[in-house]
Amino acid sequence: MTVAVVGAAGQLGSELVQVLSTRGHHVVALVRRDVDVTDHAAVLDIVPRTGASVVVNCTAFNDVDGAEDRPGDALAANAFAVRSLARACAETGATFVHYSTDFVFDGTASAPYTEADRTNPQSVYAQSKLLGEWFAADVPRHYVLRVESLFGGRAARSSVDKIVDAVAGGRPARVFADRTVSPSYVEDVALATEALLARGAAPGLYHCVNDGSATWLGVAEEVVRLLGADRGLLEPVKVADVALKAKRPQYCALSNAKLAEAGAAMPDWRDALARYLRRRG
Ligand SMILES: NC(=O)c1ccc[n+]([C@@H]2O[C@H](COP(=O)([O-])OP(=O)(O)OC[C@H]3O[C@@H](n4cnc5c(N)ncnc54)[C@H](OP(=O)(O)O)[C@@H]3O)[C@@H](O)[C@H]2O)c1
Repeated sequence: MTVAVVGAAGQLGSELVQVLSTRGHHVVALVRRDVDVTDHAAVLDIVPRTGASVVVNCTAFNDVDGAEDRPGDALAANAFAVRSLARACAETGATFVHYSTDFVFDGTASAPYTEADRTNPQSVYAQSKLLGEWFAADVPRHYVLRVESLFGGRAARSSVDKIVDAVAGGRPARVFADRTVSPSYVEDVALATEALLARGAAPGLYHCVNDGSATWLGVAEEVVRLLGADRGLLEPVKVADVALKAKRPQYCALSNAKLAEAGAAMPDWRDALARYLRRRG
């Protein structure tokens, strides 16, 4: 199939281009200079010209703290641009794949969130992403995939990469001991996305994260173990002790059971981390 990947230079976008091409799809990779997704007319113009039967949106305004000061920019990229892409897909009949975030939840749960759980976004970024989910869901054939704590992109700028860079270089790494996440390896997210499309899975909302969960300290301890680094480099901190502009959900393990039932099971995050560290060399 012909797949247009919008935001193709980003962490997840570049991986999707690679994975979809390797799997024999014709990929039209669109970066910012091809289309500014906040330009409604430009979006409506370019999507039909790609000839794509699937449009995958990997663009986003991801500066969680910056969004508190720039709500207009966050809404433009994370919500209204999604509305434009969704409208273009509805007009061409394309399937629309869009990525969202665990931040749509308030983080007060004590068991992994499912797709049926109530959202309660706590920041401007989170509110803008939730709006984007709603706009994406207007497309008859849509997949809204919530990912979390992405790592493994070629640009290597994730929190996991920051931990790896620090401890591999013998420098201390400050990590939250009381924030629980389900990390998502971009390669596994891209493979799961392709699997949903190839199988013609039921449209809808899916949690697309690696299996399992850990605190950031737990993730960092696994990095230290895999690298044979010094555990003493890890400096545990508490969410309450760090001044951040935007509120973060504290417990955000996501259940990926629905994704697995759709035929796109995700490996355990430890397995994903080990594969990524091998790939990084
Ligand atoms: N990273 C995470 O941990 C995380 C967690 C939860 C959810 N997500 C979601 O996962 C998806 C992929 O995230 P990511 O980490 O791969 O993002 P990323 O690396 O920041 O890439 C986003 C891409 O979108 C492009 N972009 C932004 N605004 C644009 C615009 N107006 N027009 C055209 N292109 C634009 C950026 O281009 P420039 O480089 O030119 O700005 C960049 O290439 C997003 O929906 C994100 O919200 C990510």
